[in-house]
Amino acid sequence: MTHTDASLRSQASAEPGVRRARAVERLVRGQATSDGAGVRLTRVLTQDLQRRLDPFLMLDAFGSDNPDDYIAGFPDHPHRGFETITYMIAGRMLHRDSAGHEGLLQNGGMQWMTAGRGVVHSEIPQQESGVMEGFQLWLNLPAHDKLRQPWYRDVQAADIPRRRSAEGVDVFVLAGHSGGVAGAVTRETTEPLYLDLHLPAGARFEQALDPSHNAFVYVYRGELRIGEQAVPAQRMAILANDPQADGVVLQAGPETRALLIAGRPLREPIVQYGPFVMNSQQEIFEAVRDFREGRIGGYSG
Ligand code: CO
Repeated sequence: MTHTDASLRSQASAEPGVRRARAVERLVRGQATSDGAGVRLTRVLTQDLQRRLDPFLMLDAFGSDNPDDYIAGFPDHPHRGFETITYMIAGRMLHRDSAGHEGLLQNGGMQWMTAGRGVVHSEIPQQESGVMEGFQLWLNLPAHDKLRQPWYRDVQAADIPRRRSAEGVDVFVLAGHSGGVAGAVTRETTEPLYLDLHLPAGARFEQALDPSHNAFVYVYRGELRIGEQAVPAQRMAILANDPQADGVVLQAGPETRALLIAGRPLREPIVQYGPFVMNSQQEIFEAVRDFREGRIGGYSG
């Protein structure tokens, strides 16, 4: 009992309260689409929101218990100019890339890939039935890093840093910092925060946010209230940028799971052509030419 009290106190003191919380600017439903060799998914963060949610370029949510929706996976395809963060809630997916990396992504694990100057990779399901559920987030690279060496890391579920708040909220810190816990990955320029939050019914959760960062919440189970706004499952809430606000306060209705994502905007030109995201049309021409001529991912003979 005393032990519990002490740990509650230390948790509480590690979390100075949010004095002024951000409001919800708008709710986004996302668009049903398919990608790869016909994987059905919901594009939650679409291209028209890239400027508003800079440095994030895309968020896809996939979730199905019908193998027809996912079995074909994502055969070989290139990327250049940004980072992809794949977070698997349930299921098994094998990743292989042209830089020689290979990894099995499964239940609760994360894969962080910095495409930099370019990789060709594939993501193929390793199951013929059952549920496949997860997310892929695209994080932009600053202009000076777009042609850097590719980088890759697999983080298994047990190795994702986590904490439990005083209200019993399990916080999985994929990136950034929460309540004194450093995430699995940190990045200097974009300073991404990526939290997976598991909230018991009725729990409240506070997170400090830099006022200059763009931020959003995606509810994937249950329902949250953020200020006056109810945020049901399968909705993204874009948080208003308020120079006076120092964080966000989430209030769970039923038992709820949500992603909280924030980062520092790059404020650089964004030019996307499919899997290439650069700063100018000229750099896109070069990416396409390099890919065709085998200079992305060492596919040259
Ligand atoms: Co990919």
